[in-house]
Amino acid sequence: MILEVEDLSVGIKQGKKHLPAVRGISFGIEPGEIVGILGESGCGKTLTALSVSGLLPAGVEKTGGSVRLGGRDLGALPEGELSRIRGRELSMVFQEPASSLNPLQRIGTQVGESLKLHGEGDPGIIRRRVLEILGNLGLPEPEQLVRAYPHQLSGGMCQRVMIALAVINRPRLLIADEPTTALDLSIQAQILDLMRKINRELGTSILFISHDLSVIRHLCGRVLVMYAGKIVESGPAEEVFREPLHEYTRLLLEAVPSRDRKGRALANIPGKVPALGEIPPGCPFAPRCKKALPRCREVFPEAAALPAALPAALPDTPPATLPAILPASGPMAVPAALPDTPPSAFTGGHRVFCVLRDLQKEPDHGGI
Ligand SMILES: Nc1ncnc2c1ncn2[C@@H]1O[C@H](COP(=O)(O)OP(=O)(O)OP(=O)(O)O)[C@@H](O)[C@H]1O
Ligand code: SF4
Ligand SMILES: [Mg+2]
Repeated sequence: MILEVEDLSVGIKQGKKHLPAVRGISFGIEPGEIVGILGESGCGKTLTALSVSGLLPAGVEKTGGSVRLGGRDLGALPEGELSRIRGRELSMVFQEPASSLNPLQRIGTQVGESLKLHGEGDPGIIRRRVLEILGNLGLPEPEQLVRAYPHQLSGGMCQRVMIALAVINRPRLLIADEPTTALDLSIQAQILDLMRKINRELGTSILFISHDLSVIRHLCGRVLVMYAGKIVESGPAEEVFREPLHEYTRLLLEAVPSRDRKGRALANIPGKVPALGEIPPGCPFAPRCKKALPRCREVFPEAAALPAALPAALPDTPPATLPAILPASGPMAVPAALPDTPPSAFTGGHRVFCVLRDLQKEPDHGGI
């Protein structure tokens, strides 16, 4: 396991109290895995990421639990050691690339700085490695680019530069917090391709945060769904998207436009995420959930594994009989009865939308 997060809690300091923003979450990331976190705004995704990297802002504190990277408890390390780990073993990419880059420094200096900070002193080697990483991440004309300033680049290029900066030391874990949200669709797709390339070629594990379900679905192998500071459902992305068990996940998915629901109004989830000081006991989603039972308002449904084989059609039953959440980490009992094939929407009586024949792709020789 590269990352082990156990019972992590984060609170916003208010006088002598803490308002709970992340409430006892546990999950892990295996080497080479891409794990997604999704959930509405204010659910605690960013604070989870920041507490993993030890970068919580002033007034926000870890109030419990542990974060282990490669077996080492990050909470027990002095700040100096933590800084050495950040950028080398663990890196982060944020939503606003332009505001993360220094406007007064050339791109080459900023990317090279990351190597310098981690012990590389030879200017020739630094220059060669900076040019190499910029080229490998698909940035055009690296020789000119290293002399440019951030304001001379587009948003998509700035984000690629930020990613170059984050991965130049080949970290074991990259945390990407909404890295595509501020970009237009075609650039988003390029950044996602880049994430896959980094994962494949460097073997970097990725924790990818987004509220965009389709991005998570197509990029991540496993997904954690957060609501009001808790992980309410987790599992292999394909299964969570195909058969969501938690009512919150199900409603999130229903709110995504789909060809199957063409002509029908999009579902919306009534109500809003509770304010930090007003999170109800029991299942935090209960005030918005049409299927809530009296018991849902008393106890948070504990994690439970699925039975070895699911019934052919999942019953639409409340959590008393069907566990609403899956284990936060560890192997999930994969339902043997569910087919391992994509849905037959393209052949099952639907009109054909697009046919590709004899598709060819040139091999990519630019390995990182
Ligand atoms: N620096 C801060 N000071 C006070 N409250 C904060 C701070 N950062 C986050 N919060 C609060 O903590 C809660 C969780 O915030 P967080 O940023 O983790 O949400 P998020 O899931 O990342 O949302 P978004 O999708 O909007 O980025 C929110 O209620 C937020 O208002
Ligand atoms: S049925 Fe109960 S446990 Fe499940 S989402 Fe609704 S309120 Fe929460
Ligand atoms: Mg956020």
